[in-house]
Amino acid sequence: MKFFIDTANLDQIREAQALGILDGVTTNPSLMAKEGITGEENIKNHYKAICEIVDGDVSAEVIATDYEGMVREGEALAALHSQIVVKLPMIADGVKACKYFSDKGIKTNVTLVFSAGQALLAAKAGATYVSPFIGRLDDISTDGLNLIAEIRHIYDNYMFETEILAASVRHTMHVIDCAKIGADVMTGPLKAIEGLLNHPLTTIGLEKFLADYKKGN
Ligand code: E4P
Repeated sequence: MKFFIDTANLDQIREAQALGILDGVTTNPSLMAKEGITGEENIKNHYKAICEIVDGDVSAEVIATDYEGMVREGEALAALHSQIVVKLPMIADGVKACKYFSDKGIKTNVTLVFSAGQALLAAKAGATYVSPFIGRLDDISTDGLNLIAEIRHIYDNYMFETEILAASVRHTMHVIDCAKIGADVMTGPLKAIEGLLNHPLTTIGLEKFLADYKKGN
């Protein structure tokens, strides 16, 4: 399973990259705003800065909600760097734009996906990635992980090449459960990734090894 970090924070991206396990980055307009990145030029420069840190795909989201606007914005974003993936909302014009970009060989990530039907449409439109938001489904007492399982089942039935990018991952157990189900990618905050490191027996075991070493040296 690929690991993407879901942030526009350059320090956190550097930290995940330094761990040696990072495969890419997802961002969205809210994450950009959280870092105080505003204005078209600043946002574009920030995407370029992210691409300089990581080796993998970097999702950059369009703001337009009409087909022509999405195509215009997506083309400008894709021209910024070879690692940019055009992120499009799951609406009718987003599906049309997805088809346009996939026909041109430009990578896409269809976002704000909350049902298996939406994921089926994204795959039919040739999306590179589909982003089901598991945390936001959990927030409304719906089983987000079950959606990942449904999409996995459907995509496997027809050998769709669209990668399931489990998004809105909130914690470490989400990461593990997504891996069990067979999500191709997960995107989450740094703390969900770093949480995978933790086990009390590792801490206790290391302390004992070091203490025993000191006794003999
Ligand atoms: C996905 O690409 C989104 O950026 C993201 O995962 C949303 O997560 P949230 O529900 O924690 O805001």
